[in-house]
Amino acid sequence: MVEKFKKKIKNICCIGGGYVGGPTMAVIADNCPDINVTVVDKNVERIKSWNDGDLTKLPVFEPGLEEIIKRVRNKNLFFSSDVDINISKADIIFLSVNTPTKTKGIGSGQASDLTWIEACARQVADAAKGHTIVVEKSTIPVRTAETVKKILESNNKDNSFSVLSNPEFLAEGTAINDLEMPDRILIGGEDHVAIELLSDIYRKWVDETKILKTNIWSSELSKLIANAFLAQRVSSINSVSAICEVTGANVQEVSKAVGFDSRIGNKFLNPGPGFGGSCFKKDILNLIYLCNYYGLSEVAKYWEQVININNWQQDRIYKTVVDKLFGTVYKKKIIILGFSFKANTNDTRESTSISISKNLINEGAHLLIHDPKVSSKQIAKDLEKEPLTENSNSAEVNNYGTWEYITNLENAFINVDAVIVLTDWKVYRNLDWNEISNQIRPPAWVFDTRLILNKNKIISSNLNYWGLGIG
Ligand SMILES: NC(=O)c1ccc[n+]([C@@H]2O[C@H](COP(=O)([O-])OP(=O)(O)OC[C@H]3O[C@@H](n4cnc5c(N)ncnc54)[C@H](O)[C@@H]3O)[C@@H](O)[C@H]2O)c1
Repeated sequence: MVEKFKKKIKNICCIGGGYVGGPTMAVIADNCPDINVTVVDKNVERIKSWNDGDLTKLPVFEPGLEEIIKRVRNKNLFFSSDVDINISKADIIFLSVNTPTKTKGIGSGQASDLTWIEACARQVADAAKGHTIVVEKSTIPVRTAETVKKILESNNKDNSFSVLSNPEFLAEGTAINDLEMPDRILIGGEDHVAIELLSDIYRKWVDETKILKTNIWSSELSKLIANAFLAQRVSSINSVSAICEVTGANVQEVSKAVGFDSRIGNKFLNPGPGFGGSCFKKDILNLIYLCNYYGLSEVAKYWEQVININNWQQDRIYKTVVDKLFGTVYKKKIIILGFSFKANTNDTRESTSISISKNLINEGAHLLIHDPKVSSKQIAKDLEKEPLTENSNSAEVNNYGTWEYITNLENAFINVDAVIVLTDWKVYRNLDWNEISNQIRPPAWVFDTRLILNKNKIISSNLNYWGLGIG
């Protein structure tokens, strides 16, 4: 029989070196110098980037991450593509792999695709040695732990497992801060010794009162519900932005007045072009699928509306742009400011810039796309269209809609017809509108979907201004 527990965790392995695995393990390694933490990923290129001597090439951009990597990489934080060996050495294994929405088969378009979780569980079952704690870090549907347990226990080797749920609540763009000062750490499970060993890791820097322990199903469900509530708030204020525009109200004033109510609170009440990111939409779709699966169609319909408003918001923004530009954007130059789904991240998954840009290109516009951290290669992948370059042939130039990547905003506004702010990067807050108005082709428009620009300066520079939710 396997000696069940070591008294102390010495080796952690995290499967999945993405936006969650990388930053989370960096913070654990930084706070637990006596633990060796290894992040493994089957994506060899990603591991190479995590090990790159040039820290600007890390695969994930997060403020504060570079400094931590500098401190702990190759001391007690390692990145490796050797998955099996690191599984076999680990006392605790975090599963931090992707759980996207299924695109085919049963539940297509709603249910989570658990292919990657299942593959990991099988690999852990084969390679683990002794007693291993397996922690679900990925966001997964309720009762996934049951599946993980069944797979782990189906192997006949002389080893054993405890399965815990420990969902991650970090937000991209503020991930390091969220990990260092979390609102709470949630641990679900039945094995109290395993729960305490996992809690010991967090206790190194998180106050005991913030470590919540629940049953495993509550923990799995809480992550979906937390994201559903956050997304619902965004859709609520975005729906209000539309009412403000037609009634002459100002969404910032309304949001402030409403947020002063202590029962409501003032967080997450900023309107915008719609939520993006890899999680909100996928997690609500997953919740909708679960509701329907359990026969709760009214509950499913309730959450569906959060997604409907989000799609509608993006759609109405692009239609407003076309409408203000006299009903056509054909061959018009439009600057898109920001392509990541929010500021301070290089992540573009589900970014509203993708759908809005695609629609404008489809209408024949020529887009000049700028983002401080997103590469031209990534944008081309998201738009499913190569950018125009000096080497483009005339057929490409005459293509109906086109786009170009710009890295420098100086002189970028020459002959443009519209500027659209889609991501709240700080660098866009203080543009010189006087100078821009000398470059643009009048009568040009500035569309601020994040309400970060100085409306008065824009208007006094003889530019037309449209602010989301400003009546
Ligand atoms: N991104 C966020 O803000 C966030 C926040 C909280 C929770 N989550 C959840 O965390 C999970 C991971 O999200 P992410 O954004 O880090 O995803 P990601 O796509 O950035 O990273 C996942 C990584 O797992 C690797 N992987 C997949 N299967 C593997 C296997 N069998 N062996 C080794 N490596 C494997 C992939 O190559 C990829 O690099 C998801 O379930 C997500 O819903 C994400």
